[in-house]
Amino acid sequence: MGNKFVMIGGGSTQSPGILEVLRKRAEELNLSELVLYDIDEERVSLLGQYTKMYYQELGSKVAVSYTTNIDEALVDADFLFMQIRPGLNKQRAIDEKICLNNGVVGQETCGLGGFSFAMRVIPAVLEIIRKVKEICPKAWILNYTNPEAILSEAIYREFPDANVLCICDMPISIEGAIAKYFNKDLRDLTFKYFGMNHFGWWTNIIDETGRDLLPILREDVLSGKIDTLLQSNDETKEDQYWIDTYRQMISLFKRFPEYFPNCYLQYYLTPDEMIVHDDPSFTRGDYVMQGREKRIYEECRRVIANGSAKDSSLHAGVHGNYIVDIAYAIIHNTRERFTVNKKNQGSIANFDPEAVIEVPAYVGSMGAETITVGHIPTFQKGLMEMQKAYEKMTVDAALSGSYQTALEAVMLNKTIPNYTVGKKVLDELHEANKEFWPELS
Ligand code: G6P
Ligand code: MN
Repeated sequence: MGNKFVMIGGGSTQSPGILEVLRKRAEELNLSELVLYDIDEERVSLLGQYTKMYYQELGSKVAVSYTTNIDEALVDADFLFMQIRPGLNKQRAIDEKICLNNGVVGQETCGLGGFSFAMRVIPAVLEIIRKVKEICPKAWILNYTNPEAILSEAIYREFPDANVLCICDMPISIEGAIAKYFNKDLRDLTFKYFGMNHFGWWTNIIDETGRDLLPILREDVLSGKIDTLLQSNDETKEDQYWIDTYRQMISLFKRFPEYFPNCYLQYYLTPDEMIVHDDPSFTRGDYVMQGREKRIYEECRRVIANGSAKDSSLHAGVHGNYIVDIAYAIIHNTRERFTVNKKNQGSIANFDPEAVIEVPAYVGSMGAETITVGHIPTFQKGLMEMQKAYEKMTVDAALSGSYQTALEAVMLNKTIPNYTVGKKVLDELHEANKEFWPELS
């Protein structure tokens, strides 16, 4: 019997890249059945029909289907790839605008854009995992759903023993860019990293001879030899947002040269420099809706109308490869090293053992075994502790429906300057998300 993979949120614009990697690597994954599941009937039927044709015409033996019935989708599932977005990019853009119009960061995982997204996504994801525990308790869930930092805190709190790995493609994307800078094969480098999702630092970059490249990178940045890194990811390297973000990441490293920063720290350490470039009338959410969303669903419609996918092709990048590499490591027990989000449990010696952190781990059939980081310095620890308190209280608010808890969570977010702004943004987000958030009172 082959493996059954289910894409939860299969109608997502992020699905095509994963679908292409699954097709190419079906044999080594022993993949026999693939189901696209989504609550959005139109989108899942567009991507589902497209994928069926595309796989078939390229000679794939994988049985592809799509459904809006989760109970059906989960029967006998082995792997669940989850990326859902309640409220779609439409709601993302509404949140971004509310934040930006109040002068604060609106990014969908950092700042209060992330808070709002978390309030939409936590109940939905917990409900799905409840179903998984009931219908296919042995299945592995690989979760890409954002805001991963807050969501993983909720998942591991509610389901400490479930087979879930919460992952993000940002660390490996940045590692790819670093490897490229040093003209190295990514697989020959060993990275040491700690933090939380979209909130972490690299402490070492060890090459195949055991030499640490981080001091060289630091020297090249401090001396002005480089002011950006070229991306390793074909999917994003033409995108101005990502071009600017990689430049800002190097600029952050120059100003805080101890460790190399995850690019998302730009929203916490230099929020003022971020919002001056943001246009509340055309946000990232708008950009994605008019670009990736339009392109993908239009291509599906064209192929379906033509009755053939022969002149169509899907592109795979880091995002698709990373999640499939992890599934492969679990299936074949490779114990390969990946950066994942898991409960700390002593990995960072001077940080809450119950808190979810993002660190490298060795992944095999037992799941992920995280590395030991040891003691972290006061600067990073201080930032992480406030952010972790914010994440925990956001989960508390989503689960309890307490307005006061939500307000206190908001005040713990570093992007919020004071009570007046915090309460105003919270109330406006609350109003705009009535349909999606748990009731707060
Ligand atoms: C990276 C991050 C993801 C995020 C994505 C945003 O891959 O790791 O967490 O979802 O970028 O992409 P978008 O094009 O939707 O802004
Ligand atoms: Mn991410």
